[in-house]
Parts: sequence; C-alpha cells; structure tokens
Amino acid sequence: MRSAATPGLGARVTASLGRRACEVTRNVQAGGYRIFSALDRDGPEPAAGQFYMLATEAGWSAEEGRPYLARAFSVADCEPGPEGVRLDFLVHAVGPATRRLCALGEGERLWLHGPLGRPFAPPAELAPVTAGAILVGGGIGIAPLALWRRRLAGAGIPSRVLLGFRDSERSGGLDLFRCSEIKLASEDGHRGHHGHVTDLLEVMLEGDDAGSAAVYACGPPAMLEAVRLLCREHGVACELALEAPMACGFGACFGCAVPLAGGGYMRLCVDGPVVGGEEIETALVPGGGGH
Ligand SMILES: Cc1cc2nc3c(=O)[nH]c(=O)nc-3n(C[C@H](O)[C@H](O)[C@H](O)COP(=O)(O)OP(=O)(O)OC[C@H]3O[C@@H](n4cnc5c(N)ncnc54)[C@H](O)[C@@H]3O)c2cc1C
Ligand code: FES
Repeated sequence: MRSAATPGLGARVTASLGRRACEVTRNVQAGGYRIFSALDRDGPEPAAGQFYMLATEAGWSAEEGRPYLARAFSVADCEPGPEGVRLDFLVHAVGPATRRLCALGEGERLWLHGPLGRPFAPPAELAPVTAGAILVGGGIGIAPLALWRRRLAGAGIPSRVLLGFRDSERSGGLDLFRCSEIKLASEDGHRGHHGHVTDLLEVMLEGDDAGSAAVYACGPPAMLEAVRLLCREHGVACELALEAPMACGFGACFGCAVPLAGGGYMRLCVDGPVVGGEEIETALVPGGGGH
C-alpha cells in the first residue's frame, strides 16, 4: 500500500469486511445517467478512486435470475454528516444490475460493501516536481474524477478537467464536479470539441506547462490506452482507473486479473482499480467497459 504525500489525500481507506444495509436517500436524472445517494451509517469516508460492491435488497436477480452477484461502482461524491456518510453514485443503465440501481426509490435499501481498492495518489507522489493535475474522463468514467477534483481543490492543488462523451444520451453528471471550468468533447459534436477528449489532452500536453502536471483518467479502455500512450510520449506521469469484471471485489476470485508490464498479473480489485500508466501492459482490458 502507498503512503500519502499529502495527509488525508490519496491514502487507501479500509472498512470492515462484510456488507452493510444502507438507505437510499435520493435518485435523480443526470443527463443520460442517474445519480443516486445512500446513507452509510457505519462506514468510513472513502478516498477518491475507491469503489463499492452494490446490490439492491429487493428485486436483485429479477431479470431471468440476473444480476446474481453484486456489481462494482466508483464513488462519485460523498459528504460526512451527523447520521453517517452520504455516498453518491453515477450510474449508466447498461444491463440488469444498472437498470435495477437506476430504478431505486427513496427509502429502499441497498447492500453495500466498501470502500474497496486503491485510490488516486496525489500529484506530488507521482512526480516530485508536479504542481497540478489534469483530469480526463470519458462517459460514465467521469464518476471517480468528480470526487478527486473536490479532494484536490480541498488540498489547494489546481486541476484542469477534460471530459468527453459519445452523444447526448451517454453524457451527464457534470454538476458533480462543482466547477465551471470544464473543457468538453463529444463524438457527435453535440457539446464542446467535436471529437475525442484525448484530442484536448494532446493539445494540453503540447503546451508550455505539460511537464508540470500529473494526468488522472477514467473511461473506456480505448480512451485510457490513448491517454497512457500520450502521457508516455510526453513524459508525463499518469494514473488510470480501470474496469474489469469483478465477482467478489476483495481479492478472492481472480476474475479481475490484469496483465502487468513486467509480466505476471495484478488483481484489479485490490491492486487497483487505480494503476500507474507504466505498471500495466495495456489499458485494453477485456470486459473493461466501453460506455
Ligand atoms: C471499479 C469499477 C468501478 C465502476 N464504476 C461504475 C460507475 O461508477 N458507474 C457505472 O455505471 N458503472 C460502473 N462500473 C461498471 C459496472 O460495474 C458494470 O458495467 C456492471 O457489469 C454493470 O452490470 P449490469 O448487470 O448492469 O450489466 P452487465 O450485464 O454486467 O453488462 C455490462 C456491460 O457489458 C456488456 N456485456 C454484457 N455481457 C456481454 C457479453 N457477453 N459480451 C460483450 N459485452 C457484454 C453490456 O452490453 C454492458 O455494456 C464500474 C466497474 C468497475 C470494475
Ligand atoms: S474481483 Fe475477485 S479477485 Fe478481484
């Protein structure tokens, strides 16, 4: 486990093993996605980049027995309060689990296990001379970057935000960033730059201050691989929040194995989901999402 160079920023948070029942307090539309909140009365405040395994108490295994297992979701925002920690999740309905979660009603109960996994590390930990951060999000992958931007801002670390979406149906959640200076790209041209978010990153990395930033990215595998290669080309440190199919979320099933650059494998649920760009052989992880 890494230690955090900035106290409280980027340190892995662990919770007691076992799932907890939490009450859903909100579920709202966010463009083509939904944001729902759950009150975690007994869990710690998570670090940005960590995830939870979620399942609903009722109606899970409803669509022809699916989903059978809990599914992984990044925490997009959180707020501690007198009754517990409010956790916000940004979800895109792509299958039985996400459809069920998107339909959660206020007062319903959710089974939650986490926070799990390795979070983002502060820029100074990735490269000693690094002053700020560039956050690059694609589609539903913007979720963990929203909390990371807030945490960086809280620590006085500047960040620039680049977000890309495929089309208007597969976009949303910008309000989670609570900042107005976001550069947007869309593949269908409905908003911002007409093209990929990596086009915006390329321009930024070719600017004068490229060497003074660390890049953090989350999104579809092809986007992450493009970010990884661009950062390598420009000598800029990067961390990527990857996805892989996760059956357990805590290291027991090896379903989330990802090849390492030097040979061998890591279990993404315990050694990730956030990984250094140079740690992995490729970000093109099979089953690594694509929305
Ligand atoms: C660490 C981590 C964090 C995540 N965070 C989020 C998040 O914040 N928000 C979010 O919405 N999702 C997130 N995900 C993704 C989410 O966990 C998965 O998409 C999950 O599998 C959805 O479950 P489902 O039952 O709805 O869909 P599934 O049935 O599991 O399908 C998921 C996707 O895979 C495709 N698929 C399914 N079966 C096949 C197949 N046989 N061949 C090809 N494609 C197939 C589907 O079309 C769909 O796009 C995260 C995943 C990980 C690992
Ligand atoms: S999901 Fe089971 S080992 Fe990673």
